[in-house]
Amino acid sequence: MTDSLLVLGVLVAAAAGLWAWRRFHPVSFWYGVGFPARAVLVYLTWHHVASGCKLTRNRRRFRLTLDAIPVVGPASRSAATVVEHKRRVRRVDVERSPRLGLLRPTRLGWRMRLRLRDGQVPADYEKAAEGIAHAWRVHSVRVVDVRPGRVTLWATMRDPLVEVVTEPETGELLTVRPGKLENGRDWLIDFRAVPHWLNVGATQSGKSNLANALLKGLAPQPVALVGFDLKGGVEFTPYAPRLSALATTRKESVDLLVDLVGEVENRMALCREHGARNVWTLPEDLRPVPVVVLVDEVAELFLMADKSEKEQVAKTATALLRVAQLGRAFAVYLVVCGQRVGSDLGPGVTALRAQLSGRVCHHVNDPETANMALGDLDPAALDATRAIPAETPGVCIVAGQDGSWHRARSVYVPEHEAEQAARDFAHLTPDWETLVGSIPVVRPAA
Ligand SMILES: Nc1ncnc2c1ncn2[C@@H]1O[C@H](COP(=O)(O)OP(=O)(O)OP(=O)(O)O)[C@@H](O)[C@H]1O
Ligand SMILES: [Mg+2]
Repeated sequence: MTDSLLVLGVLVAAAAGLWAWRRFHPVSFWYGVGFPARAVLVYLTWHHVASGCKLTRNRRRFRLTLDAIPVVGPASRSAATVVEHKRRVRRVDVERSPRLGLLRPTRLGWRMRLRLRDGQVPADYEKAAEGIAHAWRVHSVRVVDVRPGRVTLWATMRDPLVEVVTEPETGELLTVRPGKLENGRDWLIDFRAVPHWLNVGATQSGKSNLANALLKGLAPQPVALVGFDLKGGVEFTPYAPRLSALATTRKESVDLLVDLVGEVENRMALCREHGARNVWTLPEDLRPVPVVVLVDEVAELFLMADKSEKEQVAKTATALLRVAQLGRAFAVYLVVCGQRVGSDLGPGVTALRAQLSGRVCHHVNDPETANMALGDLDPAALDATRAIPAETPGVCIVAGQDGSWHRARSVYVPEHEAEQAARDFAHLTPDWETLVGSIPVVRPAA
């Protein structure tokens, strides 16, 4: 009696200890208990899971079998059937699962490397990933690395994007950390690496929040910020203290774009004069201030109420395209946001899209917009966009120009925080007139 009470007491104490460990130090609990238990489960069930997800292959093997042969004739005179066992070598099909390498723990799950069976391609594993995630009751399984003959799968126990916390900014010029990637790393937008961005999503999907995060991250940096807000200026007017220029009507947009194109041409001429290929190779004292242009609701720039606006729309589209085409080398960067971005807005939109190599696609209602943002990159990224629920604003698919894409979420930056940043760093706002007039127009010698 006392023995069983003692055992019970030890068990209760152990359970309470494990509960407390998991509750108060989940990270060490995961590495010390959770992951080893998971690893055992994964190794034990892998063959079964791979077979269910159609990742196994049949192999012909010679096998020694023990066959039961009914004996007929004098030996089988009684009612019971008499059988004789004979050993035979037979060719049989054996189901082989892909060979599982060592499981490596990560903070949110684990990585596992697999050797592909003959005839398999990484896409087979991308297709099977959802089935594997369900079989192991984990949040997601993704293919994260592909090498000849091998793939690495990454399983995550929970969605790392449920709660995204702010990280301090990197302090590097033109680099912003607007949120987190699904793999737990920081989402970095480096305008010098990927100069122009297209940011799309349905209403309330988190486009403006991302613009707020960018504005907050760029406000303390020595850059000029320019806004286009044709939704009556309601989005960007509160950030006016940190904006060098803001266009809220079509007329203002045309004028501002003309200024921007002029500025890009001046920078081009300056570089030519000094034998530089881009502004970053100019001597530091001559280097012009980088300009980041934020466009909210790009469709407003392309839509026309009547024919009288046709010319203005054409001018706007051409100017925006020129800024995108030439801005990269001359430190004029674009972030174009839009709810509905489709080819129906005009031929200029597809041409503009080709220049916006950074893509962010939030939850969308119309497939055309998602297709515009990611369709030219990777079909798997497009599928991932469709899976973003409307209830998680800020969650998006991010693709850079290297072809890789990630699920990500911007950090929540409410308007008042972005407004505060705009006020706090208002003294860093370059004056637009001075900025566009600061570089004398250099004309090539006749
Ligand atoms: N990263 C995020 N984390 C948490 N909540 C968010 C995030 N992004 C946006 N939200 C919430 O979603 C709401 C809508 O976001 P936001 O205004 O950015 O959408 P939008 O795409 O710009 O919509 P619209 O097209 O109507 O302008 C925000 O007010 C905020 O409450
Ligand atoms: Mg918005």
